[in-house]
Amino acid sequence: MPALTPEARRFIEAEANNRIGWGSQAISSGQARLQDALAGNDPTAIQQAAEKIREGVLQLQSGSAALRAIAAGIAPRQLALAWFKDQTGVQSAVPIPAASGSWGLSWYHLTMMAFLVAFLVGALLVQYARMRKIGSLVQRLTPLSPEAGPNQPPNNSTASTSSAAASPAATNPAPAIATRPWTGGLRVAAIFRETADVKTFRLSRHESGPVPFTFLPGQFVTFSAKIADKEIRRSYTIASSPTQRDFIEITVKREEQGLESRYLHDHVAVGDTIEVSGPYGNFTFSGTESASIVLISGGVGITPMMCVLRYLTDRSYPGDIFFLHGARAARDFIFREELEYLEKRHANMHLVATMEETEESSWPGAVGRISKAFIAQAVPDIAWRRVHVCGPPAMMEAVKKQLLELGVASEKIKTEAFGPAQGRPPAPPTQQPAAASRAPADMAPEQPSPTAAVVALPTAGTTVEFTSSGKTAPLGPDQSVLEAAESIGVEIDYSCRVGTCGICVVPLTAGKVTMEVEEGLPPAEKARGMILACQAKSVGSLVVEA
Ligand SMILES: Cc1cc2nc3c(=O)[nH]c(=O)nc-3n(C[C@H](O)[C@H](O)[C@H](O)COP(=O)(O)OP(=O)(O)OC[C@H]3O[C@@H](n4cnc5c(N)ncnc54)[C@H](O)[C@@H]3O)c2cc1C
Ligand code: FES
Repeated sequence: MPALTPEARRFIEAEANNRIGWGSQAISSGQARLQDALAGNDPTAIQQAAEKIREGVLQLQSGSAALRAIAAGIAPRQLALAWFKDQTGVQSAVPIPAASGSWGLSWYHLTMMAFLVAFLVGALLVQYARMRKIGSLVQRLTPLSPEAGPNQPPNNSTASTSSAAASPAATNPAPAIATRPWTGGLRVAAIFRETADVKTFRLSRHESGPVPFTFLPGQFVTFSAKIADKEIRRSYTIASSPTQRDFIEITVKREEQGLESRYLHDHVAVGDTIEVSGPYGNFTFSGTESASIVLISGGVGITPMMCVLRYLTDRSYPGDIFFLHGARAARDFIFREELEYLEKRHANMHLVATMEETEESSWPGAVGRISKAFIAQAVPDIAWRRVHVCGPPAMMEAVKKQLLELGVASEKIKTEAFGPAQGRPPAPPTQQPAAASRAPADMAPEQPSPTAAVVALPTAGTTVEFTSSGKTAPLGPDQSVLEAAESIGVEIDYSCRVGTCGICVVPLTAGKVTMEVEEGLPPAEKARGMILACQAKSVGSLVVEA
């Protein structure tokens, strides 16, 4: 239609108008004839009149359709088809495209098939991901089968019964996973004496079943107790393996003047309830981090190493495990029997220990403190290995220095400090710290040099304002934000007080702080301006949300 010349268009319009005219006339004359035929009661005449009217209607429709088509620009062929369908009542069929694609199929078919295949693959992938998720959930929630649990060491009268390795026939227990911290009461199920001043406390649920949280080897829990009218909290490493689900064990050294450790040793009995929260901590090793591990401990610092060792042997870790321990004397060597048993049983476990005191003729091993030569002799190629260190502060500092001298990169050295539970953390280092985990903290939110912060003189009248409680405390240069808060009765939750658990985290809204240890503060939290109250110190005034 758009291609019609103006003359052709005028011709069609004239023809259409003629038809409309003829049609109208035919209808009029048909009506007149019909009246006469009806009056004369002549059936044949009635039939002819109706025929005339029908012809007129058709002419009228034809003309008006042509005019509408011209006005709307519809092609004559399409118009004819529409007229034909209208007259015959035939519906249009779906046009079948010609086969122009591959394998004798049209592109239409190929596209539809590709779409269906893609849909099927997508559905299969979703199903596969769902099955994997369900699988890992079942693995997490299913308690370990008895045969997968650890064996008992022979004649192990003092060592905890959670110890020792899985039998070669046993299948590997499930890998350790840490759940979110849980808080509640656990029942003292058993108490084992390890040495003269060390006891192991086995804790389980009051009702039967697994302990209500899972943890990674090396993590700790926090005990809360009211002792001498004082609410106190102390952290204790879980020494038992995460593969043991029915209980956890913590091994505690009795401190002569210590509040919690004396309470545990002297007053707590089987059947008592201990308020526990956890697990916490990043001083963990579950075997996937490196192909071998060196565990160096002093005194009661053996507890996280014991947990790691028990777990690795339960899981048939294939790498070398070098276990180096230092104690005062052989009688203070915690877990000695169990360690010797595990060494005999596992070819990849290498145990060496050294005793400071030598009065006992029964000790066949090395004598003296852990030294560089002792480490080098015990561990071949130490420079390439990951090392965990835990023990008294002086021993840890010395061992870290020796490891650096032996060529171990600082990021391969992981440490955990056990205290102090009360008072101040260890003094800031005077030189570049040895291990990455003890690197001097920088500032939040701004980051001036840590050295500058250490040597800077305090400004007179330095304070810390606690906005939530509306109180302000004086802040000495050696005082932590936590200590300042405690001095005026502002409550900030805490546990380890050594910068590892992350419980004392608070937002700093103004000022700059240094933090000596910040293992418990994820970098993302630090970037948001959070600080560890137990570590944060400042020579300028601060505003803290607490
Ligand atoms: C992450 C982590 C894990 C830990 N894991 C373990 C573990 O597995 N096993 C373990 O035994 N400990 C562990 N500790 C240490 C534990 O938390 C406690 O610090 C320890 O038991 C001492 O607590 P306490 O209440 O008995 O002593 P506190 O009352 O806190 O006293 C601390 C120290 O000060 C001394 N002291 C206190 N009062 C006086 C006084 N008036 N005069 C002189 N000296 C005094 C005490 O003898 C003690 O040495 C861990 C600590 C941390 C941070
Ligand atoms: S109390 Fe544990 S990090 Fe501060």
